[in-house]
Amino acid sequence: MKQVAIAMVVGAGLVALGSTTGCGEPVAEEGGGPGLAVPDYFPQPQIPADNPWTPEKAQLGRGLFYDKRLSANATQSCASCHPQESGFVDNLPRAVGSTGEVHPRRSMTLTNVAWASTLNWANPLVTTLESQALTPIFSDHPVELGMADREEELLERLREQPWYQQRFSEAFPDDDDPFTVANITAALASFQRTLISANSPYDQFVYQGDPEALSESAQRGMTLFFSERLECFHCHGGFNFSDSVDHQGQTFTGPIFHVNGLYNIDGEGGYPPPNTGVHEVTGDEGDMGRFKAPTLRNVTVRQPYMHDGSVADLDEVIDHYAAGGRTIADGPHAGVGSENPNKSMFVPGFLISDEEREDLKAFLESLTDEEFLTNPELGPPDDLPPFEPEE
Ligand code: HEC
Ligand code: HEC
Repeated sequence: MKQVAIAMVVGAGLVALGSTTGCGEPVAEEGGGPGLAVPDYFPQPQIPADNPWTPEKAQLGRGLFYDKRLSANATQSCASCHPQESGFVDNLPRAVGSTGEVHPRRSMTLTNVAWASTLNWANPLVTTLESQALTPIFSDHPVELGMADREEELLERLREQPWYQQRFSEAFPDDDDPFTVANITAALASFQRTLISANSPYDQFVYQGDPEALSESAQRGMTLFFSERLECFHCHGGFNFSDSVDHQGQTFTGPIFHVNGLYNIDGEGGYPPPNTGVHEVTGDEGDMGRFKAPTLRNVTVRQPYMHDGSVADLDEVIDHYAAGGRTIADGPHAGVGSENPNKSMFVPGFLISDEEREDLKAFLESLTDEEFLTNPELGPPDDLPPFEPEE
């Protein structure tokens, strides 16, 4: 119940933020100059000391994020799998790479990714956006952008554009040759840190002091969400509706992953390979089925759900948790998730009336931030030169 109390106290006496972005003034960094603008009701994210945030790096990263030059066959950019209008994630059950290869997992929302304590669905080893970006560009199993062994070609494609010559030298003024893979990932990370969603009706109600922002139904849904009956807040709590967050001043940091009972294929808690969660990375049986709890901000615009897109909509999500885990009657994934022996104690199952279900959905809907989904400053730069490779 602690989190409700905090939310209520904050909601009671809040300064309405004048700006339309809901973001605070840029915070001055130690070295001077404007830092990343973060709303004053969010904690400051951790930014690696070797990649201080600058607007110039973020602008370069924005171009790179939307540029098909990053894929070998010029068909995809990061935005192909992470489009803005659905919260920087596509609506496919599983991601499809530039050569048509199907990824074992679903793409992920980049909403407030600056605060993610680990990146990807279940990988405790990937802890910075800088290192994460190497995988989609260079991995060959599965192929995403397909640039494995083609670093020089990628750098050459960028180097030959005046647009990039100007922006690389503005972003990395001290480098003799700023065209490096490390600078590409540093810039992509800097842009992704600007993907801040903090102006949903929930934020307006709780943090910006607008009592009209949430319907009565959504307010009842909020109480349910934070209740000991539904338990959602244990894993999807805090300012970002995920316990997998890291920020300045945080006392406990460390990777957090949970088994929410989606599968139980062998009666011993088994998940269908290769998507065995943290187990896929560590090989440790104790990590079977453990995944990161994604942020629930902008959740209603990004169905289907879960790491493999196997849950179609919010009603199915609620059915899953109400049953204390999903039952799959037949087929290769058959099993009773509620009897998964590794399942978290916070997924006990619950009864929920039709009206309460509507209230819970209205609350989840109130986490949708229209401004974030449409803000042109987070979209492609107008003047990014198109890429037409020679055959
Ligand atoms: C082919 C589709 C595809 C492309 C292209 C792609 N991604 Fe992803 N992205 C994914 C998938 C799938 C995951 C989940 C990976 C996993 O769990 O193994 C993911 C996860 C992420 C995450 C982790 C988010 C989180 O909350 O943990 C980040 C960050 C990310 N991608 C950034 C990028 C960037 C930057 C690019 C461009 C360089 C990019 N992606 C290109 C499909 C894609
Ligand atoms: C024990 C921790 C835990 C609890 C409690 C919990 N969740 Fe989750 N939730 C997770 C994890 C872990 C995932 C990702 C699982 C996966 O992909 O296999 C997830 C995924 C989701 C998703 C899909 C998000 C996406 O982007 O695909 C939704 C929606 C969701 N949970 C809503 C809820 C609601 C509503 C409640 C309360 C009824 C709840 N959760 C309770 C851990 C939890």
